[in-house]
Amino acid sequence: MGKVSIARIILIGLGLVPVAANTQGYESGDSTWRMPNQGGTLPAVVEYPNATGRIRILNTDGPVRTEGHAFFTALGTNGRACVSCHQPADGMGLSVDSIRRQWQRYGAADPLFAAIDGSNCPSLRQQEAASHSLLLNKGLFRVFLPWPPRGADGSVIKAEFDIEVVKDPAGCNLDPEYGLYSRQPMISVYRRPRPVANIKYLTELPHGVPPHEAFFYNDKSLLPRDPETGQFVSLQLMSDGRGISLRNQARDAAATHLQVAQPLTEAQLQQIVAFERQVYAAQSYDHVGGDLTGPGAPPGLGPEALRDGAPARLGNNPVNRIFGSFAMWLAAANDPTLPVAQREFRASVARGAEIFYARRFLIADVGAYNDKGLGNPFNRSCGSGCHNTLLMGMDLAPGFMDLGLNNWPWANVQTDLPLFRVSCHPDAVPQSYLGRVIYTHDPGRALITGKCRDVGATMTQQSRALVARAPYFVNGSSADLREMVDFYDRRFNIGYTEQEKQDLVNFMRTL
Ligand code: HEC
Repeated sequence: MGKVSIARIILIGLGLVPVAANTQGYESGDSTWRMPNQGGTLPAVVEYPNATGRIRILNTDGPVRTEGHAFFTALGTNGRACVSCHQPADGMGLSVDSIRRQWQRYGAADPLFAAIDGSNCPSLRQQEAASHSLLLNKGLFRVFLPWPPRGADGSVIKAEFDIEVVKDPAGCNLDPEYGLYSRQPMISVYRRPRPVANIKYLTELPHGVPPHEAFFYNDKSLLPRDPETGQFVSLQLMSDGRGISLRNQARDAAATHLQVAQPLTEAQLQQIVAFERQVYAAQSYDHVGGDLTGPGAPPGLGPEALRDGAPARLGNNPVNRIFGSFAMWLAAANDPTLPVAQREFRASVARGAEIFYARRFLIADVGAYNDKGLGNPFNRSCGSGCHNTLLMGMDLAPGFMDLGLNNWPWANVQTDLPLFRVSCHPDAVPQSYLGRVIYTHDPGRALITGKCRDVGATMTQQSRALVARAPYFVNGSSADLREMVDFYDRRFNIGYTEQEKQDLVNFMRTL
C-alpha cells in the first residue's frame, strides 16, 4: 500500500474525503459522514454499514455529482447543507450515533450544532455539551414557530387556545429574546429529522382499492392546496404538515436550518426537488438474516422495491399487503441448507410481518382518530389501524393524531422537554379525550392550525431505513426498536408476548 492510499485512509477516518467507490459502484469504509461542500459523487447505488447490517441508497437518475449541488452545498451563513441532517448513511435522516460522533470529532465547531436550532437555545453558551443536550441525547433539533400561528401568506391565525410555559428545562421558551414572552413570541419544540427518501410515496395523492378509493377522493376537503399550483397536496410532509410541497418545504428549510441570506434561486429549488424525487433508501443486508434483496428475498424489501412500487396505495388488504409477502421466509424455518441462526431469524421476520399486518388490539382514546367515526376503542392491527401505506407504513389518509407521544397522561414524561399548558377557549371544539386543558411537550399540528382539537397531533412518518436512523418518534422518545414496540404495548395494553416483541423488532430491522 503506497503513501497516497495510507494518507487517504487516514483522511477517510476523519471523514474528510468521500469514501472510494469500488468498481461495482458500492461504497464501503469506516467513515460515511458527508460534509457540506465535500465534492465527489454519490454513486447510483451505494451501501453503508449500520448496527444490524447495511443500508442501500439508490439514485434512479444515476450518480449524483455533489460539487455545487444545492442539496450538498452550504448555501447559508452557518456552514450547513441539507445533507448535514439528511445523511445517506443514515437513510437520508440522521441517527443520534452520527450526531455524537460529530460532536466527539469537532464539538460545537461542526455546523450541525449551529446555535439556531442545533442547540437547546441560541442564547446558551455554545461550546458546552449541555447546551446541545437534546440533540446529543435524543437527536432533536429546535423547531421554532411563531405564536400566534401564521398562515402561508404570513397573516395571523386566531388560535382557539392560550398557551403557557409550565416547565422550560431547555431554557428557550422563557428566554427574553427567543421565548414565548419575547418581543416576537416564539414557541420552541424539539423534533427529529424525517428522511428525505422514497418521496413519491409522500407527495402523491392517495389511491386506495375500492371501496376505500371513494373515501379518499370524497374527502379532499381535508387536504390543503399548494398556493403555487392550486393543486391539492398530500399533507404528508413534516410532523405537523407545514411542509405543503417539496418546494415550499425546501425554502423554509433553507431559511431556518441553513440561515440563507437570500431565498433559494429557482435553479437551486429545482435541483433540490429533483434530487429528493429520485433517491430511495432501505435496509439491504442483515448480519443474521443475510441478503434482503434479490432472489429468494421478500419482494417488498430493499430500495429497488420502493423504486418500482406504486405510490399512495392502501396496503391493509390481501391484494396490496403493506410490505409484501414474507411467505418464502416462513418456509425458511425448515430449510436445512441455511445456518440455524439465519433460518430462525428469517422465520421470526416473517412472523413479525404478520403481527404488524394482522395482530389486532384495541386502539383507544387517540385524539383526531378514534373520534372520526371509527369507534372508541377500535379493534385493528398496526397495519390496518394506522400504518397502512403500501411499502411505506405511514397512514395514507392525511391523518394527524394524538397517539400520546407528547400529550399527558400518555406521554412518558420527558423531563428534558418543555412542558406547556394549553387552555382552550370555551367555544372551541375540545380535544376529544383530553378536553380543554391539555399539558403537552409539543402541541404539534395545533401550532399550525390554532385548533384545540389538534393539540399534540402529529403525522405518522415512513417506516423504512429504520435501523439507520434511531432514535424513534417525533420526539426521539424511543431509543431503539424494542422501546418503540414497548411504547405501543403499554399505550394500548396489547400484551405482546416476548416472542411477538422480538419478531416485530426483527421485522422492522429489515425495512
Ligand atoms: C439542522 C437539521 C436539518 C437541516 C440542515 C435540514 N433539515 Fe430537513 N428536516 C429536519 C427536521 C428536524 C425535520 C422534521 C421537522 C418536523 O417534523 O417539524 C425535517 C424534515 C424534512 C422533510 C420532510 C420529510 C417528511 O417525511 O416529512 C424534508 C423533505 C426535508 N426535511 C428536506 C430538507 C431540505 C431540502 C433541506 C435543505 C434546504 C433540509 N431538509 C435541511 C432537519 C433538517
